[in-house]
This record gives sequence, C-alpha cells and structure tokens, in this order.
Amino acid sequence: MLMKKRWIVPVVLGLAGLLAFSACSAEPDKKSAADSSELSWWQKTIAYEIYVRSFKDSNGDGIGDLKGITSELDHLKELGVGAVWLTPCYQSPQADNGYDISDYYKIDPAYGTMEDMEKLIKEADKRGIKIVMDLVFNHTSEENEWFKESRSGKENDKSDWYIWADPKKDGGPPTNWRSIFGGSAWEYDETRKQYYLHTFLKEQPDLNWANPEVRQALIDVANFWVEKGVGGFRMDAITYIKKPETFADGKPDAADGRVGIHSMTANTEGILDYLSEFKSAVREGKDIFTVGEANGVSAKDLPDWVGPEGVLDMVFEFGHVNIDLLDEMNWCKTKDWKLPDLKALFTDSQKTTMGNDTWYPMFLENHDQPRSINHFLPENADRIDGGKALATVLLTMRGTPFIMQGEELGFVNVEWPSIDNYNDISTKNHYKFAIGEGYSEEEALDGVHHFSRDSARTPMHWDTSRHAGFTKGEPWIPVHDDYKTYNVASEKKDKDSVLNWYIALAKLRKEHPELIEGDYKELFPDSDQIYAYTRENDSEKMTVLVNLSTKKAEYDAACVSDAEQVLGSKGETKPGTLEPLEAVIFCNK
Ligand code: NOJ
Repeated sequence: MLMKKRWIVPVVLGLAGLLAFSACSAEPDKKSAADSSELSWWQKTIAYEIYVRSFKDSNGDGIGDLKGITSELDHLKELGVGAVWLTPCYQSPQADNGYDISDYYKIDPAYGTMEDMEKLIKEADKRGIKIVMDLVFNHTSEENEWFKESRSGKENDKSDWYIWADPKKDGGPPTNWRSIFGGSAWEYDETRKQYYLHTFLKEQPDLNWANPEVRQALIDVANFWVEKGVGGFRMDAITYIKKPETFADGKPDAADGRVGIHSMTANTEGILDYLSEFKSAVREGKDIFTVGEANGVSAKDLPDWVGPEGVLDMVFEFGHVNIDLLDEMNWCKTKDWKLPDLKALFTDSQKTTMGNDTWYPMFLENHDQPRSINHFLPENADRIDGGKALATVLLTMRGTPFIMQGEELGFVNVEWPSIDNYNDISTKNHYKFAIGEGYSEEEALDGVHHFSRDSARTPMHWDTSRHAGFTKGEPWIPVHDDYKTYNVASEKKDKDSVLNWYIALAKLRKEHPELIEGDYKELFPDSDQIYAYTRENDSEKMTVLVNLSTKKAEYDAACVSDAEQVLGSKGETKPGTLEPLEAVIFCNK
C-alpha cells in the first residue's frame, strides 16, 4: 500500500531534545484511520495506575488523597493518559492498604469524600481521562457489615455469604492451604466454632460467589460506580472467586507442611460462568472496560477470558513479572532467566491478541511488583538509559500500556536497612517465612530488597521540596532518598530525562496507529541482548530495537535498510549497532 510521505527533516523535539524526525507518514491513510477508529477508546489510550495513598496529599496528614489527585491531573494529560486506575479508596480499616473493604459505597475519610470523588471524575473527564475503580470482590474486610452478620452465627441471612467450614477432627483448619500472604488460609471463629477461608490476610475473608445473593450484591456495587461515571474496573484477584466443590489437603510445598492456596483454588472450573453473569449485568452495552488481575491465566487461556466472546475486556497476565519467582512464598531464591525467555513470554501474549479480537494490557510494574529497572535489567544498568529502554517496550507493544506511578520518572526499588523499616504486611510475612525456612536475616532482607511491594508504594516525587512535594506533613511511608534528582519538576526541565522520553513515546504512539492496532512480529528472538520487533498495519511499519543489556550489541541492519529513524534514546543511531540500553525506533520510508 502506498504511503503519503513528507519530509525527512530531523526535528529536535522541544524540551525532550530527543532525536526525532517528522513522522514517517504523519497523515494516516484512510485504511489505517478506519482500522483504529474501530477500536474502543480504552484500546487506543494509555492507562496509568495511581496508588492513592502515595500520589499526592492535599491536607498534610501524610496520606495521598482524591483532592491531591485532582490537583495533578495535568501531569497525566501530558503523558497522554486516558484512563487512571485508582487503587481502592473505599472505606477500609487498611489492613492491606484498602484491599480490605468495609463499605463499597463509601470513600475512606483518609482519602476524602464522595464529593471529592465526583469532582475527580468530572475534572478528569474534562481532560479526556476516565477514572477506573478497583473492584475487590474476592474478599471484603472482616469489618464489613456483611461479614459481621455472617460470623454472628450459623442462622442469619448472610450465614453463607463467606466460605465457612468445620474443623478437622483434631480441631485444626479444614485443609493445609497456605494463604498468599503466608500462614494458614483458615481462621477459627469462636462464635460459629468454624473456620473461614481467607486467600489473603485473615482480615480479608473470602466471599462465597456460589451464593447468588452475593453475586447480585457485587453487581449492585459495580453498577453504583458505573452510575457515578467511571470508565471501567480493574478486578482484583479475580481468578480466586470460584472455590472447589470440596476442600482437600494438597501436597505440602514447604517446610511448614502447607500448600500454596493458588495451586488449589485459582481458575477453578465454572469461574467463567460467574464472570459472564457479571458481564451481562454490568459491562454489556456500556462504554467502559474491565481488566482482571488474573494470576494463573496463561496466554493460551486468553480467548476464553477476553474479547467479544470472553468474560472481560483484558486480563493482566503475570508470566513476565513472575519470571524470576521460584515459588510464591520464597523470596530468597530467585529463578535464573535469560532475555530470550522474557521475550518469548511477551511474544506469546502478543500473538494471542492478533487476529481474534482479544486485547492485552501491557505492564512491567504495578503496586505489587518491584520497580522494573531492578526487575528486568542487569544490576549495573544506568537507570536513565534503562528506564528509557523499558519505556520503549512498554509503549510500543500491541495492547493498552499501563504505567505505574513513578515508572515514568525512572523510579527504582528502596533498600531499607531493616525489616522494621518496611510497611507492607506481605513483605513482613515473607520475611518471617524466610526466617522460618532457615534463611539468615541478611538473606531474608535481600529477598525483601528485591521483591518488597513497598518499592512500588513510596510517595510520588513532584519536586525538590521537603518530602518531594508529596505532603506538607509526615508521609505515611518514607520518600525515596533520590527524590531531589528524580521528580516531575526537574525531569520536565531536563531534555534527557526518562519523563521526557515517555512523553515523546506517548506522542509517537498517538500519531502512528500501527503502534496501536498494528501486527507484532518479533525479530532476533534468540538474541540475549536485543529485544526487537515490528509493528505493522496496512500503511506503515515501525521497527523497534531495544538493547536491554549493558554491553554494545550488533544486529543485522538489513531489517531497517528501508527505514528512517523516528526516535532514538541516544540521538542518531548507527544501523547495525546499539549502544548499551539504547532504544531506537525506525519507520518505513
Ligand atoms: C491483589 C492486589 O493487587 C494486592 O495489592 C492485594 O494485596 C491483594 N490482591 C489482595 O486484595
């Protein structure tokens, strides 16, 4: 197909100062324009995750809040963001920072009021940004009225709204399942003389989705938020909602004699029926999207889960972020992996989304994961070059990219000196488990430095002022000590910053429909340094080449012989060679 070509005048991108040529074919031809207009808004946009507690505090109590988010919406707009996923801000005792909800219809006072939420939705809308709520429906807080009633005895209306089971003959828990955060997944209740199941903390009892009243109550919650004008939902821990018909012990997988609950309950047959009911009652006929946190759903299962026939619009798969995880609980020993393994996981997911109308949420970080610079790059990687290299992958794959707050500034993990410095309950439990398994304190702390969820949760850096401009009070969790260099205000002014690279990539993505709708084809899959692929629609082809190693890399320049560079993280590149961590994008002539 013929392309309309203009130019070839290199343009220095204003602030970004990145080598950029005017677009290959900035005017998309009719065919590609029509193609991308068939996509929904959420497929064409960039999504951004806000960890509400840590984004921006408006009232000086040290905790991020909704008013704070509203005041920083312009930062998101500049990044090309069209959907903002808020971590749970409903009323909650905060045993798991909001993932333990005591009232789905109220905003937690630490985060503001319902009025603040309505204002946020409205102000975001004005900027073309939709607010996406986190639906935590596998479990509630133990302080939720539903649970209080359920635990009050065996004879009440909500008696089987949660998963209750009798003790074993010896009085112990019904099975040897270990909760995802460590310890038994069962907690004894004196009043009922029974155990209740909790996939996560004991403060987070699992709801019984087998009960149609529970499913209806959850549908009502979701529709309440649809009415408020949200643009969609991220569905927490969704693969755990269906439990097996009978509860049985599993083969122990560690010295504690327990088996991880994931292997016993994730993705239980029949789960799709529940979700399809939810889809008809909440999603269908509305211009919103659903994205499920679907640990355990692999690329081959995707067609059942997503797309026109699937139960959700997208699912977060975890193959790539779990690449170094040996097992759920053990953070002390990591699994060895090589770049071709990681690339193969990406390629599998990319391939499943082509040709069958399924869609993919691309992510490298979220609030449960290490920072990607520490996770996926060699230890000696320069963090600015590395942040840009990873950003290039994140923003040029097929699917909707999800940026985790701070990722756009090149955030890295925190390495605090003692377990007592850490806040996250799962981090503390993992540490305890490691000590129980015989690891030394130093080894256990090493695991924490690598995997702790606190690294993704330290406050956002806005400027060089005290506490990075996050709060005027004392932050609930320490600010990373590198904030004077890595913050929004400073990075905006620095043409070579990670932030300006993100902005340039977002602009490129918007101008080139092939980066959104185009097919993906991997190049050099065996290379253990370079991740390269093409993104092609009927009118244009982009070739993306990223050196994810800290050594110079060579490649066969024939793949770009017919193309011009449109973006380069180190200025003009020499075809055939990539500097350490260099990222470059070519477009067909
Ligand atoms: C997954 C969430 O992402 C995580 O932060 C939370 O602790 C668990 N689900 C429990 O809700």
